[in-house]
Amino acid sequence: MKIISILLLHVMLLKRMVHTKCRATKYPFSEVTRFKISDEQVPWTVCVPEYDPPEYNSKVLMNKPWADPPLEDVSFKPKWNELDGKINRKSHTGTYRILNERPLNPQGRTGIKGRGVLGKWGPNHAADPILTRWKMEQDKKVLNTTTNLPILQFCAIQRKDCKQWALPGGMVDPGEKVSETLQREFLEEALNSLDASKEQAEADSKMVRDFFKQGVEVYKGYVDDPRNTDNAWMETVAYNFHDEDGHHVGKFDLKAGDDAQSVQWMDVDKNIDLYASHSNFIKSVADRLKSHW
Ligand code: BGC
Repeated sequence: MKIISILLLHVMLLKRMVHTKCRATKYPFSEVTRFKISDEQVPWTVCVPEYDPPEYNSKVLMNKPWADPPLEDVSFKPKWNELDGKINRKSHTGTYRILNERPLNPQGRTGIKGRGVLGKWGPNHAADPILTRWKMEQDKKVLNTTTNLPILQFCAIQRKDCKQWALPGGMVDPGEKVSETLQREFLEEALNSLDASKEQAEADSKMVRDFFKQGVEVYKGYVDDPRNTDNAWMETVAYNFHDEDGHHVGKFDLKAGDDAQSVQWMDVDKNIDLYASHSNFIKSVADRLKSHW
């Protein structure tokens, strides 16, 4: 009996950890088809002799200042698993393996090698702010009729690239602190700071700086992002910034900008379909604040 429950737990854990969004047949923004593998074949520890994924490196990356050079470039000497100058090549998941001079995705096979559209070989670091407030009606929290729990709302943006709803996060620039990325991305994508007047941008930035002092980390690690490959993948740090009385960012006029085409306060519920693993982060926040999910 005990062995069966241990086995079941193992299977459940495995199921939860297996990445799926980065195994969909077509690689995003391309016609490249991923090599099909089953959930059981994802871990590198499982031998799959027939595994022969195509290589894809998008032309978009050529000569981009934010992208690594091709691996064949002799002048490119990356320091894997280290802070390489200003570029953070460390993974939140621990030490990743290097095979044939290529970093290996710590979550296993994805059906494609190369780095696809991702700028960096190995980990590509992002940061995601989760801004929340309570859904209110006539000064009262609105309760969900089934769970009887208060409904939380979070700031969601619609990404321009794939049109999916997501958190207003973004890539950590080389040398940038995560706390700076969180504020910059929120200002750019949800308050359109890039197009705001100087006065408005300064006022928003001060308000955000003050409000972002009380963030709580809810996730740090690998992201099941559709752009991941066997040799390049997304990682993020997600922070919750909760506006309990709705008097701070909760009353802001949201305005989409930069990589976002729309922005809104979205009701939190288990049926929300968000980009990459973003719904998992929101679930942690819903648990933390004891809200409806
Ligand atoms: C997005 C982040 C996201 C990360 C991983 C970045 O492009 O801006 O919101 O968490 O990718 O999917």
